[in-house]
Amino acid sequence: MSTESTPRLVSVMPGQLVDVDALLTQRQTWDLPMEAGAEWRQVNDASIDEYLAHHGADQYPDSVKDQMVLFSGFIAKHLIAMNGRTVLDVGCGVGMQYPLYVRDIAASISYVGLDPIKINLERDYAFVCGRLEDLVSHGLSRPVDIAVFATSLDHFENVKTALALSGKLVGGGRILLWVGLHDSAAVSSIVGAKVFARLCQLAKSPILRLLGLLAYTMLQAPKLFFKLHKREAILARGGRLDKFHFHYFVRETFLQILAQNGKVEEFVLLPGSNSCFVAFSPKC
Ligand SMILES: C[S@@+](CC[C@H](N)C(=O)[O-])C[C@H]1O[C@@H](n2cnc3c(N)ncnc32)[C@H](O)[C@@H]1O
Repeated sequence: MSTESTPRLVSVMPGQLVDVDALLTQRQTWDLPMEAGAEWRQVNDASIDEYLAHHGADQYPDSVKDQMVLFSGFIAKHLIAMNGRTVLDVGCGVGMQYPLYVRDIAASISYVGLDPIKINLERDYAFVCGRLEDLVSHGLSRPVDIAVFATSLDHFENVKTALALSGKLVGGGRILLWVGLHDSAAVSSIVGAKVFARLCQLAKSPILRLLGLLAYTMLQAPKLFFKLHKREAILARGGRLDKFHFHYFVRETFLQILAQNGKVEEFVLLPGSNSCFVAFSPKC
């Protein structure tokens, strides 16, 4: 092991095992050599500004912050169920502070963040700078109890490989996924929940609420339905909805992929959102 500017930053030698307990007890950063392909670099580089605003400065919409609180509870519940403590966060982002979805439980868990973007190398938490693929090729000194993919699974070129690789790191443990679904039913439920909430806030009488709904239906719903139709057509021909992701999961095919690669222990669709949480036991 060679140390750079401070003892907390460790440059990892080829073939060297990553020492989970040294990482955790000394809150180190282990910097892995990386050999990523051009397409992955292109997609990842396109997202860096957004990551800096989001993870670097906690600038998320309130609805996403609420989902983070819920995901924190999901992580805690599965750790308790497994009598475990160590969490590997695959694609933890670029923030120096613990991500919001573990910040409140950080003192009760042993958290290691993993992310390939070389920004903020010295963090408040144990951090491995590298891709999942690089970490697995080095190997961990011991398995972690849970691997978490918080809105990161769709950033992997090959989902099956990502699940199989993280499966190697958890031993008999679980993988927890927070994934956005792109089914029109899920996406439109975000709008539906907002529209009905707004109508009830703005008007007290049932007649006024109905008139508001009618106005929404005439003025806004056509735009929404045409937009959803366009997205469905893009997804049906295997196209991309933006330049930031490799995948746009829809519920049915996402569950099929999971079933082919292990067992879904729990699937939760968050109300009024297109996010789902999944607890997954990978095939050994
Ligand atoms: C949308 S961000 C999610 C960040 C954080 N989990 C959150 O929810 O705020 C996706 C993250 O996945 C990371 N990522 C992409 N490919 C990866 C790979 N092969 N191995 C590990 N992390 C990866 C990206 O660098 C990025 O920080």
